[in-house]
Order: sequence, then C-alpha cells, then structure tokens
Amino acid sequence: MASLVHLIAAARPNFMKVAPLYHELNAADDFDVKLVHTGQHYDANMSDAFFEDLRLPKPDYYLEVGSGTHAQQTGNVMIKYEEVAMEAKPDWVVVVGDVNSTAAVAMVCAKLHIPVVHLEAGLRSGDRDMPEEINRLVTDAISDLLWTPSPDGDEHLAREGVPAWRVERVGNIMLDSYELMRDRIEADTTAADLGLEPKGYAVVTLHRPSNVDTKEALQLLIAELAKAAQSIGLVFPVHPRTRGNLEKFGLLDELSAIPGVRLIDPLGYIQFMNLVRSSALAITDSGGLQEETTYLGIPCLTLRPNTERPATITEGTNKLVKPENLSAEVAKALSGDWPVGRRPDLWDGKTAGRCLESLRACIEVGADRLQDR
Ligand code: UD1
Repeated sequence: MASLVHLIAAARPNFMKVAPLYHELNAADDFDVKLVHTGQHYDANMSDAFFEDLRLPKPDYYLEVGSGTHAQQTGNVMIKYEEVAMEAKPDWVVVVGDVNSTAAVAMVCAKLHIPVVHLEAGLRSGDRDMPEEINRLVTDAISDLLWTPSPDGDEHLAREGVPAWRVERVGNIMLDSYELMRDRIEADTTAADLGLEPKGYAVVTLHRPSNVDTKEALQLLIAELAKAAQSIGLVFPVHPRTRGNLEKFGLLDELSAIPGVRLIDPLGYIQFMNLVRSSALAITDSGGLQEETTYLGIPCLTLRPNTERPATITEGTNKLVKPENLSAEVAKALSGDWPVGRRPDLWDGKTAGRCLESLRACIEVGADRLQDR
C-alpha cells in the first residue's frame, strides 16, 4: 500500500521548497502525497501565484489560519492541523523552512507520534531575537528525521545532541524549483516589461521585523536607499508587512518619491526570479534570496547582523551589510569589488530525488528503527 505523506506549506518561502518534493512524491507509485496549506500567507500574490507558477494543485487541506500574533498563529495551526492529522493518520509528515507553521505542525506530530521530517534542518543564525530561530530550534529538537542543506547544518545538530542517524544531508531544495522552472523564468518578460536593462538595476526586498517594524529602522534604510539610487535604479517589490508599516509611519510617500526607486507589488515566483536573474545586485533581508543569488552568481547585500545560511558568504556572493554602510557597499559591488563565489556542494537541483530516497529507506525500516537503516 502507498505511504500517506502530508506536505505542509504555509508562507511564501515554503512554496518553492514544497513544490519539487510534491512533484517527486506525486510521480512515485509507493507514495500518496497530500498538500496541506495552513493559510499563514493568503493574499493572491503571496500564495496563489506561487501555486500556479510552481504547478502545485489546489491544497488537499486548507487550514485558513491567517495572520495574528505569534502565539495566535502557532496555536491556530496546532488546533487545526491536529484535527486533520487525527482523522487522516498520515504515515509521515514533511515540514519545511522556519515559519511559525513549521514548528506548530512538528509539535502536533511529535505528540501524536506521527513521524515528522524537517526539510532545511540545522540552520542557525545564533540570534534568538528572530522568531525563525526559535522555530528552527523547536522543530529540529522534536523531528524524527532532519534533512540538511549544507555541512553547517549537520554540525549544529551534532552540537545540540541530535544523533547522526537522524540527520541526512540532501542539499538545497530551493534550487530544484529554479531548475524546474528555468525555461519559464528565462522566457518571462517581467524585467523587460518594466523597461529594465540587463544588469542595469538592483532588486530590493525587505520584510524582517528588525528592519521594518520601527520608524527609526525604516528611516535609516530609506536614506541609504536614496543614496544608492543615485548610482543604480532600485526595483522594490514591497512585502505586505513592510507596506503596512511604511503606511503606519507615514513613510510610503517619501520612499516612493525618491528618483530611481520603483515600488511594485510582490511578484510571483517566475516573475520575481526573472527580475533577479538579470539584476546587477540584490539588497535584501530574505533567507531564500541569499541562496538564489549565490546560485546565480549575483552580488547579494544582506541587511542583517547574521545569517543562518553561512555557505552563501563563505562560498557564495553574499555579504552582511549594516544599514548605515549600504550605499558604500552598493558602490563596491557595482565597481566589481565583490566575491565571485561558487555553488556549494549539493545545490544542484536534485535535492527532491534525494529526499524521496531517504524517505523510502526510512519507511522500509520503520520510523522507530531509523538507526538501523
Ligand atoms: C513570515 C515568516 C518569515 C518569512 C516570511 C516571508 C514567521 C515567524 N515569519 O513572515 O520567516 O520570511 O513569512 O514572507 O513565520 N500579510 C498580508 N497578506 C499575507 C500574509 C501576511 O497582508 O498573505 C501581512 C499581515 O498584515 C501580517 C503581516 O503581513 O500580519 C505579517 O505576516 P506573517 O505571516 O505574520 O509574517 P511575515 O512577516 O510574512
């Protein structure tokens, strides 16, 4: 009989991690895969567009949790997914990334004794002020199987006492989505339709609470973006959290009036990657974009004091940048004074296949005997 697997998707950065694995499991006769969308992200351009672009079907379960405080969101996912899990009794559940829904579903599964695997395990920023770091720690502590993208993930888990037999390095699944969609990304005309010349503009994305939740942080970033825009045009798809705060603090008009700054709505996956692939550089606080720019060999200026994705710095094109140094670092990147980088090991577009083989091996020995596989 086919093994029933629930794949959990919740928020924008999850969809590119879920899609390649969904397609891989769906094509295999020995798996019956069901897609669960918690509804943490719900706007058409934060969710539906990604399902369409990544050719994901309508979710089998839609939990409609929506926005809220951390406890409300986490609690609502737990309450709603517990009902689904008790009824459907999946053989395995796959959670991805580090959003509130990831930790919530892992907790439900651990308590119902449903084996759970975490895809993108072991990442650590060392910064517990980030809600994602708490979600990573909780999820990794209670998952049965941990799929890591890079050696630093294995090292963190070993240091936290996770036995090696629970850990399997599968590589970076984000890039599977890029390879699956490469033809459509290259054929897309988003950058051209915006009148942008290849390598003639920079892409900006900002949504971390530390950058966008206070007026002071936003004001400093706006001043630096204005300086940077004197040397290169900036295209900024604005995340709903960021737009909401810009409006709340009365800063939206100031930002949109800066010459050379173009604010647009969030884009779908294919449109956004089309914009990124021809850009001169990216300015961001996203986790995924640090990886995608390393993969594409595009300079990435990360507006954070730390990153849970260090391979993008040690091997790739990423640098951590303080807000007050942003315009100076943009000038450096534009002058070519920037690491060239290379693709880290196992960031090869074949991670979903390794996940499938790993899951198959686990099912063969049984979830309570993983050390024997
Ligand atoms: C969440 C994740 C973060 C991830 C990010 C990507 C957590 C703790 N954070 O942050 O790790 O990098 O997603 O976007 O899980 N909103 C909308 N429409 C939507 C979704 C959100 O308008 O479809 C607005 C709401 O006002 C909401 C706010 O954005 O309150 C923040 O959404 P939320 O899901 O709480 O966190 P993100 O900032 O998106």
